[in-house]
Amino acid sequence: MRKITVGTVDIGEKGINMVVDALKRGRISGGVNVRRFEKAFAEYHRMPYCVAVSTGTDADTIALASFRQLGYPPQGEVLVPALNFISVANAIIHAGYVPEFVDVDPKSWNIDPRAAAQAIGPQTVGMIPTHLFGRPCDMDPLLELARKHNLFVVEDAAEAHGARYKGKLVGTMGDMGAFSFYVAHIITTGEGGAVLAGDEKQAEVLRSLRAHGRACSCPVCKLNVDSGYCSIRFEQGGDLEDSRFSFLRIGYSAKMNDLEAAIGLEQIERLDQIVQARRKNFFFLNEGLGQFCDYLNLFEEGEDGWISPLCYPIMVSEEAPFTRRELVKHLEHSRIETRPAFGSIPTQQPAFEYLGHKKGEFPNAEAVGRRGLYIGVHQNLSGEDLDYIVATFAEFFKKFGE
Ligand SMILES: Cc1ncc(COP(=O)(O)O)c(C=O)c1O
Repeated sequence: MRKITVGTVDIGEKGINMVVDALKRGRISGGVNVRRFEKAFAEYHRMPYCVAVSTGTDADTIALASFRQLGYPPQGEVLVPALNFISVANAIIHAGYVPEFVDVDPKSWNIDPRAAAQAIGPQTVGMIPTHLFGRPCDMDPLLELARKHNLFVVEDAAEAHGARYKGKLVGTMGDMGAFSFYVAHIITTGEGGAVLAGDEKQAEVLRSLRAHGRACSCPVCKLNVDSGYCSIRFEQGGDLEDSRFSFLRIGYSAKMNDLEAAIGLEQIERLDQIVQARRKNFFFLNEGLGQFCDYLNLFEEGEDGWISPLCYPIMVSEEAPFTRRELVKHLEHSRIETRPAFGSIPTQQPAFEYLGHKKGEFPNAEAVGRRGLYIGVHQNLSGEDLDYIVATFAEFFKKFGE
């Protein structure tokens, strides 16, 4: 019997051929495919700029770090939801800021705008709301807070490609939007990420940061296109003469390559179709598992949001006569893959213990950490797979009299 996986590898023939073409051309670091991918991703979002990078963590890191180059204080605190994938907190630190954790709303599992307002202090310089598991954050009050306190906003849309808040695509509402194309995400490049930006200065800093802080600022490097000759290369390099080896700022090494971009180009073409299929599966499972509401709290789309589900999150209800571990064991034994639905980074992840937070400070995030899990909802699940999922839950609940 086949496994019901959490993610899927779904690369079409066209993507495979483009990878082969790139290999045959012999230029496999960032080149024409990366430029085409950036253009296509920016156009999909109706944003002027997209800077492709090597991972979603780099997208967050570089986006956050860019603000020190764009007139914001060089140090300070960045508001971040406590319930999150670890990389978002790591990125804040890699960018040279301090994470200021904020509890989440118990229904949406996204950053609670009221808790965010309370967490703002004299050191706060920005925020990174995460559209967790594909459900958009309540952006209006967050953007209002940012305006009031002059904070930069990086939307983390790693898990929410194509999701919308009040009709607007996630990643287009803050100052920048950061995406991951990790293999388990809605669309993938294998490994990869991107930052959407609204103006040329932002894009220039992002391009420089992804390439070690390089002084060159052209959107397309002339050395990488047909003529291979750059007339300004030796005019702007200062004492060292060559601007390609002159560095304006401390940067990162985070470029996307042309093989990854080839995969991504094919994925963008199918993004809407993939999102629709995932939404269909999500609502099918909500319908099928709704009968078990005594035992499970299900994840909802929300009023203002249009969900693009990364996965199918579930919370074992507080009164349930079984533990999450028992349910997970049953599902895994039945070949349905599960993952824990993250948890409270400051109080449940050993790596962040050093900040000195105490259990109980982030009750909603911690509850998800204890009782939350997720299973797959991807486009390659068949109707039979979905029926099997519902039947497997039903079988587990039978012993509790359902
Ligand atoms: C919310 C969120 N942000 C950022 C990332 C980082 O992405 P990557 O794995 O591409 O570094 C992830 C990873 O899965 C994530 O879930």
